[in-house]
Amino acid sequence: MSTRLTWFGHAAFRIETAGLTVLVDPFLDRNPLSPVKSGDVKADFILVTHGHGDHLGDTVAIARRTGAKVIANAETSGWLDKQGLKTHGQHMGGGFNHPFGYLKLTFALHGSALPDGAYGGGACGFLLTTLGGKKIYLAGDTGLFGDMSLIGDEGIEVAALPIGDNYTMGPADALRAVRLIRPAQVIPIHYNTFPLISQNAADWASQVQAQTTTRVHVLKPGESLTVE
Ligand code: NI
Ligand code: MN
Repeated sequence: MSTRLTWFGHAAFRIETAGLTVLVDPFLDRNPLSPVKSGDVKADFILVTHGHGDHLGDTVAIARRTGAKVIANAETSGWLDKQGLKTHGQHMGGGFNHPFGYLKLTFALHGSALPDGAYGGGACGFLLTTLGGKKIYLAGDTGLFGDMSLIGDEGIEVAALPIGDNYTMGPADALRAVRLIRPAQVIPIHYNTFPLISQNAADWASQVQAQTTTRVHVLKPGESLTVE
């Protein structure tokens, strides 16, 4: 059973697994890096790490059009519920067996608010265990925190980590995060979307590969990584 991860730039992913399409933080229409638009994507589920516009993105429009169920923390899912969407609320540390795999919400060192200023609860990351047993850690917007090592203890196949700096970890802390998480493979995200978070991902990849055993995939927007 294989799982395909496609990056749309910033923190936006499509995960195709178990015959289902799962979008993560679908910031597409106003994302200058995204090769796809909100009107063109399929979705059975949408995962939202937090309420900031560059993560909530086009969730409401896509969910209305496709009927996708949106999974987020309790505060954000409650807000989306009021927009008339199908939702499933969870919270940090809690996991649930969805049709696409076991999804746990993880801590993220970041803030959150919904577009109308409503409280968004704490920003989250996601730890997905696919039906094939592979663990994929999508860190979301976060600074470095020591308990990343506890996430790493689960045995991570692929991690997606922000490297953009300013709002999240920068390259140096993201390298430290790789040491804590010890993933087999890592994808840098949340960089080069705007001038404020421009980074050289190739340089970061060289450092990670020189100093750890983790394999780095610097994806171009629209490119995929398949996990067998
Ligand atoms: Ni944010
Ligand atoms: Mn962000």
